[in-house]
Amino acid sequence: MNIAMLGSGFIARFYADTLHAQRRLDRIISVYSRNEENAKRFAEDYGLDIYGSSMEEIINNEKVDIVIISLPNHLHEGAVMACVEAGKAVLCTKPLGRTANEAKRMLDAVEKAGVFAGYLEDLCYTPKFLKSVESVNAGSLGKILWTKSREAHPGPHSDWFWDKEQSGGGAIIDLGCHCVEIGRNFIGKAVRPVEVMCWADTQVHPIDAEDHAIGLVKYENGAIGQFEVSWTFRGGMDLRDEVMGTEGTIWLNSFLRTGFDMFTTGKGAKYIAEKAESDSGWLFPVGDEAHELGYPHMFTDMFEAIDKGTAPRETFYDGYIVNAILDAAFLSAKSKLWEPIIIEDWRGDEAPDEKKNFTSHDADYFLIKKETLPNGDEKLILKHKETGKVIQKTTKA
Ligand SMILES: NC(=O)c1ccc[n+]([C@@H]2O[C@H](COP(=O)([O-])OP(=O)(O)OC[C@H]3O[C@@H](n4cnc5c(N)ncnc54)[C@H](O)[C@@H]3O)[C@@H](O)[C@H]2O)c1
Repeated sequence: MNIAMLGSGFIARFYADTLHAQRRLDRIISVYSRNEENAKRFAEDYGLDIYGSSMEEIINNEKVDIVIISLPNHLHEGAVMACVEAGKAVLCTKPLGRTANEAKRMLDAVEKAGVFAGYLEDLCYTPKFLKSVESVNAGSLGKILWTKSREAHPGPHSDWFWDKEQSGGGAIIDLGCHCVEIGRNFIGKAVRPVEVMCWADTQVHPIDAEDHAIGLVKYENGAIGQFEVSWTFRGGMDLRDEVMGTEGTIWLNSFLRTGFDMFTTGKGAKYIAEKAESDSGWLFPVGDEAHELGYPHMFTDMFEAIDKGTAPRETFYDGYIVNAILDAAFLSAKSKLWEPIIIEDWRGDEAPDEKKNFTSHDADYFLIKKETLPNGDEKLILKHKETGKVIQKTTKA
């Protein structure tokens, strides 16, 4: 593919480092930046022939097959519409929109025009995450009851993130979009998210948006997806996920503890890892940062989907659902109530059958719990199927 990059900032460089790494075949050929100087610098750094400060010119260039949007949140919609106008395939970074309405307009536009569109949600492509989803889908964890996803760091690196108008919110929109989509993947994308309860506050920074939030997303099948997001966390970037099911558990640590600990007095290279707060003492670098964060798998999935004419794992529809969940989170943080998630166009399963399959001990009793005690005795906690009486039976060691 010949790729055009819109934006030349932080994520544009992460994407470019990924796309031009090792022996990848798909190349960025051009870059748009509102500032010609920045476009030129980016073009020089990545060996691109074409650069400029006219977004339309870069998108419409006939050599371009696909456009990657790496612009601030308030510019996603305009950029998607320009790609639709040009009939170009488009990949948009997260969050898709600042609101579900914005995301829905983008979704409708790409679907109406029939252009390929992918949602660049990298944290749903980390090698650990992909393997975990495979285990979950194979039934290793049984029915997923509770997921927990945390992204916390000391705050983002550019002015526009801190301005609610441009970003659409604080930590909820910036980091919550990752956590919510991680939860959806584990619980099942076909399961409808129904309501949200969220606490949010501005604890540290002089901004209008929230810099810390904790939320619960309730799903129609009874599962709960918890998100914990913060721009107040000290000590680097904390990326952790947990999945709890009737048959098992997964804990993932994607950044601060990847099995690489280093001590330095501070001599030598200064960049350690994204959002690292120190370059001396005991440090927790990340081997191949792009890989640990899921970028190579993400782009491979996107380009293979285009080749095969299929949908990628993460679509604009997913981006829209994430925005709908986050809209409800913002409302709940204000109302302090469970707020319904408004989805105009639900494409997943209809109301699931909520019959619970309890484990039978024998004809009369359900088994609640079986445990071996420290003295070796085995205890059974049982519930009578008709009377509901709970009893225990102990088998001595
Ligand atoms: N893990 C991820 O997927 C991830 C990580 C970081 C950022 N992002 C997303 O990427 C997007 C860009 O974030 P970033 O971190 O690269 O930001 P950034 O500030 O580093 O870069 C933004 C780019 O857009 C340009 N820009 C800023 N304001 C503009 C304007 N008004 N008109 C035209 N261009 C403008 C900047 O010059 C720069 O080239 C955001 O949507 C953000 O949420 C995703």
